Amino acid sequence: MTQTLVTGATGTLGTALRPRLTAAGHAVRAASRSPPDQTRGDSDWVQLDLIEGAGMESTLEDVDVVIHTATAPQDDSEAVDVQGTKRLLDAAEKAGVENFLYPSIVGIDNIPFSYYKHKVAAETAVEESDVPTTIVRATQFHSFIAEILGYVAKLPVWPLPTNMQFQPIDVGEVAEAIVDHAMATASGRTDPVGGPKVHSVGELARAYRAARGLRRLIVRCPLPGNTVAAFRAGHATCPDHMVGTVTWEEWLAGRYASGADESPPCVQSAT
Ligand SMILES: NC(=O)c1ccc[n+]([C@@H]2O[C@H](COP(=O)([O-])OP(=O)(O)OC[C@H]3O[C@@H](n4cnc5c(N)ncnc54)[C@H](OP(=O)(O)O)[C@@H]3O)[C@@H](O)[C@H]2O)c1
Repeated sequence: MTQTLVTGATGTLGTALRPRLTAAGHAVRAASRSPPDQTRGDSDWVQLDLIEGAGMESTLEDVDVVIHTATAPQDDSEAVDVQGTKRLLDAAEKAGVENFLYPSIVGIDNIPFSYYKHKVAAETAVEESDVPTTIVRATQFHSFIAEILGYVAKLPVWPLPTNMQFQPIDVGEVAEAIVDHAMATASGRTDPVGGPKVHSVGELARAYRAARGLRRLIVRCPLPGNTVAAFRAGHATCPDHMVGTVTWEEWLAGRYASGADESPPCVQSAT
């Protein structure tokens, strides 16, 4: 049985990976800074903080495959994603790990966003490591797009950079693609994994608004800067790799199945 360590196992991708790995016959060791008291049925939980690094050797003991999903996009991503990844790679090399699998993001080398710069640095560390490695880049998860739109959802008017392009994907489908590579033989840099359609932010927001039964005015708010321009140019998308099958509308229908979840304000919908 393949012993597989999942870092960031409480996160969006980690949570989707655990049951799929178990179903595929892996023994899963799930790492978190705050592991739950008891096993959740599919995993053996261990405590791991990538900044402190304590207990890394025992965490990696007898591990064949590492799937390193831990990340800190809204925190100190240099410390967690770059230095933490290097620390984990060193420990993985000492432990004789056969495949260190690193989930990453489509287009990060062409989008000058600080978190993405740290992801590129982490990818470089992964590729330069002596551990056999696999990198799977994916487009943004549906849940991530919904979380971002959730921030503006409370406003009576939604000012949005409507021309930015995304290709959202179901996290379960990303997890399935990663499980396919979670074997003793590393695959190197794989084809990216994208959702079934490229959308503008305007399209995503209109479908989100409809799924939540909201009536809000969506106002185009062009933002300056190279990062936004790169998203507008479609650098975060991979239209040649539409691997996912769950559309944004289908995902929204599942997520907001009960219909309107908020009282509509007195604003006329215009877009
Ligand atoms: N979200 C997207 O749309 C998307 C798209 C493509 C690729 N990806 C990539 O997929 C991977 C997973 O993303 P995600 O969205 O699932 O992330 P997430 O939900 O934010 O989960 C990340 C996990 O990392 C753990 N973590 C944070 N700081 C840590 C530290 N100092 N030490 C150890 N663990 C720490 C946290 O777990 P604890 O709090 O339990 O420690 C957290 O649950 C990332 O590499 C990301 O770049 C994400």
